[in-house]
Amino acid sequence: MAEFILYEVDGAVATITINRPKALNALNSQVLDELDATLDAIDLDTVRCVILTGAGEKSFVAGADIGEMSTLTKAEGEAFGKKGNDVFRKLETLPVPVIAAVNGFALGGGCEISMSCDIRICSENAVFGQPEVGLGITPGFGGTQRLARLVSPGMAKQLIYTARNIKAEEAYRIGLVNAVYPVEELLPAAKKMAAGIAAQAPIAVRNCKKAINDGLQVNIDEAIVIEEKLFGDCFETEDQKAGMGNFLAPKDQKVKVVDFKNC
Ligand code: CAA
Repeated sequence: MAEFILYEVDGAVATITINRPKALNALNSQVLDELDATLDAIDLDTVRCVILTGAGEKSFVAGADIGEMSTLTKAEGEAFGKKGNDVFRKLETLPVPVIAAVNGFALGGGCEISMSCDIRICSENAVFGQPEVGLGITPGFGGTQRLARLVSPGMAKQLIYTARNIKAEEAYRIGLVNAVYPVEELLPAAKKMAAGIAAQAPIAVRNCKKAINDGLQVNIDEAIVIEEKLFGDCFETEDQKAGMGNFLAPKDQKVKVVDFKNC
């Protein structure tokens, strides 16, 4: 039984809540281990979309645990970075999409974990930033890499070198988040988006995620070959037959929502 992670499934949508509100959901080794185990335990036969959020009203994740990091040696620091990076990479490459519902502080490792998700939406009180250089370290859970890829190298460098925190509106303006909601509307919006994703053909959605993620790592010629393979992979599936069959059916036999069976 996890102490710091809540996991619930509602239909095809799972919600993972990082639940260490007394420390503003800071990521210590235990939280990372529990998150890792939670990701491993997701039943991918039923779950088609995941929401990641933080417990409490103030914070999504306020970063890696500074107390735990404060006494690490160089080798231990590197190992702690690897521990976080491994979990975040598992999250990033989870076969189904993950929506970060950023409900407050997303600093350091908090901003970094949100960037490992497919989609970020946030509440009006959200604050993003990579304050690490003010603590005498670099971002260590992927921030130097993902922020530069998500916004622009110049903007990422400015934010990281200055350790400046930005509010929700600025995060929206620079493309770090897709939308900003009043606090109480954030989770309903995340659930609505997740349900919309879960209603689509699951094999196709997974293949889109893989095509986008894998394609971004290689040159365009290799990337389109990745797309072709994943496109071809959808054919002959029951879901492809159901989706196209519904489109081609006579008007009076069409359904609004196709019951995709994930096969
Ligand atoms: N690590 C450990 N504990 C943390 C924490 C963190 N990253 N962030 C907050 N907490 C703890 C505080 O120590 C405090 O604990 P106590 O009540 O026991 O004193 C509790 O959470 C509440 O925090 P505050 O009293 O500071 O709350 P606040 O509202 O005054 O300030 C805040 C909120 C601005 C987010 C402030 O807590 C803060 O600056 N936190 C640190 C943010 C940060 O620097 N994150 C980056 C960490 S480094 C990193 O993540 C490295 C990496 O890339 C892997």
